[in-house]
Amino acid sequence: MSRTPEQEAPGHAEAPEVGELTPPDRTLMGPGPSPVHPRVLRAMSTPLVGHLDPSFVEIMNETQELLRYTFRTDNQWTIPVSGTGSASMEAAIGNLVEPGETMLVPTNGYFGGRMASMARRAGGEVVEVDAPWGEPLDPADVEAAFEEHQPDVFGFVHAETSTGVLQPEVPELTSIAHDHDAYVIADSVTSLGGVELRVDEWDIDVAYSGPQKCLSCPPGASPLTLNDRAMDKVLDREEEPRSWYLDLSLLEGYWGDERAYHHTAPITNVYALREALRLVAEEGIENRWARHREVAGELKAGLGELGLEMNADDEFWLPSLNAVRVPDGVDDAAVIDHLLSEHDLEIASGLGDLAGDIWRMGCMGHGARTKNVEFLLATLEEALNEQGYEA
Ligand SMILES: Cc1ncc(COP(=O)(O)O)c(C=O)c1O
Repeated sequence: MSRTPEQEAPGHAEAPEVGELTPPDRTLMGPGPSPVHPRVLRAMSTPLVGHLDPSFVEIMNETQELLRYTFRTDNQWTIPVSGTGSASMEAAIGNLVEPGETMLVPTNGYFGGRMASMARRAGGEVVEVDAPWGEPLDPADVEAAFEEHQPDVFGFVHAETSTGVLQPEVPELTSIAHDHDAYVIADSVTSLGGVELRVDEWDIDVAYSGPQKCLSCPPGASPLTLNDRAMDKVLDREEEPRSWYLDLSLLEGYWGDERAYHHTAPITNVYALREALRLVAEEGIENRWARHREVAGELKAGLGELGLEMNADDEFWLPSLNAVRVPDGVDDAAVIDHLLSEHDLEIASGLGDLAGDIWRMGCMGHGARTKNVEFLLATLEEALNEQGYEA
């Protein structure tokens, strides 16, 4: 049966009537993105320059310098990867893991699973070190996994966004890996700029992150740092990484001394990241860690007064992501809906093994302010009362 041109392309005949963009003004207190600082938004509305313009090369240098400060590293190889946190994650894993090599990944949260998928796609074998969702890795288990599997690369999640657990004893983990001549990749997506992280002092070979959590910057250019030892491994690979876009030996041409074209950098996102990192430097990184602890501490105390329980033990509490247990008889989704529809306030439900069991409340970057915490606690109490819950 023949079709008229209108039937071939339904909806294309007339120009669509789409109104001006007017997104709701939300208070973002979920697992990310976090609220963006007005100075970062302003930086994003400044004019574009070319990605090879001498002025942009200067902006790149400054962004790298600010990233080194925030990661607490002197690594020359410190760049924003074009793309979201998963892009810097895949750049780390896809370059470091060579076909036939073994990567040890954790099972104690959602993002260890993503590490495993990426390592397999890179041609690696995956072995696991177990801990329940809601607990950190035990160094003794990591040691045992090393003895058993002798992995080439070990990945761990410093701040697990799915469980609200902060991995303690990082230097112990890195020293186990280095005693076995392995490389360490740290996921610092939910810790960079909000929770103590010391890449050089803790002997982390590679750390990747995202801008939309404790840096309070929109997603799009994602921090990555590698020490010389890791970069030497990447540059000595026998086989090219499977991704052209994320091949660090090619990206070296753009972010290294040469400044040659590789791809058109997301210029506006680099502006944004530079401004977000300038805010970190102005505040001072240690002050910033302290602010996150203090303000999230106010949240934790207020949740306790409402009779709510944290998912993680106090010892492993992650200030930037507060995972809170949903009390019996309360509908977790109804509470989330109430906060969003009545108060334009975003929190999130649990993920994976913890779906339905927890709420996830972020306290990140520009969102880590007393005013936001008070607003969240007041509206949460109202939503709980609506369901007949009493502390
Ligand atoms: C711990 C962790 N790793 C990796 C990612 C992936 O980052 P993105 O969603 O920006 O790609 C996230 C995102 O929430 C995360 O929380």
